[in-house]
Amino acid sequence: MDDAVREATALLERGEVVALPTETVYGLGADALNADAVAKVFAAKERPSFDPLIVHIGAYTDLEEVAQIPEDIAPTVKKLTSAFWPGPLTIILPKTDKVPDLVTSGLDTVAVRQSGNKIFRAIGKKLGRPIAAPSANRFGRISPTSASAVMKELSGRIPLIIDGGACRDGLESTIVRIEAGEKRPTIHILRPGPVTKKELQNFGKVILKKKRVTTDPEAPGQLESHYAPTTPLLLFDKPEDFQPEEGKRYGLLSYKGDPKAGYIDAHEWAMVEALSPGSGKLPEASVRLFHIMRVLDEAGLDAIVSEPVSETGLGQAIMDRLRRASANG
Ligand code: TXA
Ligand code: MG
Repeated sequence: MDDAVREATALLERGEVVALPTETVYGLGADALNADAVAKVFAAKERPSFDPLIVHIGAYTDLEEVAQIPEDIAPTVKKLTSAFWPGPLTIILPKTDKVPDLVTSGLDTVAVRQSGNKIFRAIGKKLGRPIAAPSANRFGRISPTSASAVMKELSGRIPLIIDGGACRDGLESTIVRIEAGEKRPTIHILRPGPVTKKELQNFGKVILKKKRVTTDPEAPGQLESHYAPTTPLLLFDKPEDFQPEEGKRYGLLSYKGDPKAGYIDAHEWAMVEALSPGSGKLPEASVRLFHIMRVLDEAGLDAIVSEPVSETGLGQAIMDRLRRASANG
């Protein structure tokens, strides 16, 4: 891996982009302080420039290079970063002048996190600069949780993909904005993820809005249709809500693959894939979600029908991704 770390770092130093593993999903990294390098990220992803990137720092002490920490929320920032960094928590903070406007899409705030992935950290450390990295997929598509998924998304468009195996969490980081309060701060979850609402409740009042507006939202880029397969994805609360059309091939994205849920008997499926076969465990389901979406997407189906999962703990992040993936379905 040393060679890979060296090669990735050399490319990043030259202002190139590199696909890198993180604990959540694979990211497409560039030197966050080099606007020309960051422009290549937008180009490779075909990402609209109004959708800002996440900046990954090496250590808490690097935070002040990219963000200003308002005094009234400083204690909460400190507590949250001690509890969850390095890890899948992204915090929105006022940005410093060092961060190019392109990274933040002209906003005066920046999204910051510290990744816990060993390879990512080694590259960040060797580079000695923050790395801007959105998920390494083409815009609006399914986030990659393996190097082969990155290949499918960006092959031929970028000079290097570092293979760090399958991602530990499989879902993008939780994004929060902190608001000072008289007694307790309010933590707004802008994107649910591996750090759950329940875990954040130890640090303040937590607000998680289920549906977001599509244009000019608080978290730009939190577009409704996102993380989407090219095959339409249909999400139903109840199996009887699904009305199959004659002659069409449907695949079922099941939670446990359990006939008792009623979905398996609802139709003769061309394919059934379970997120957590048999046991129905939310951590396993979240790790496998994007992989299973991809498998179903590649099967040439007319549509993918998805069961819901229970909206507790990690289930909130899973349902968020399923809702977005179904927005065009
Ligand atoms: O786990 C992750 O967060 C992965 C890995 C690679 O770190 N990255 C990721 O990046 O998911 P991306 O670009 O796919 O999603 C970043 C989200 C976008 O929806 C963007 O709108 C939001 O972060 N964001 C970035 N800067 C923001 C800001 N200043 N204010 C509000 N939202 C922001
Ligand atoms: Mg993304």
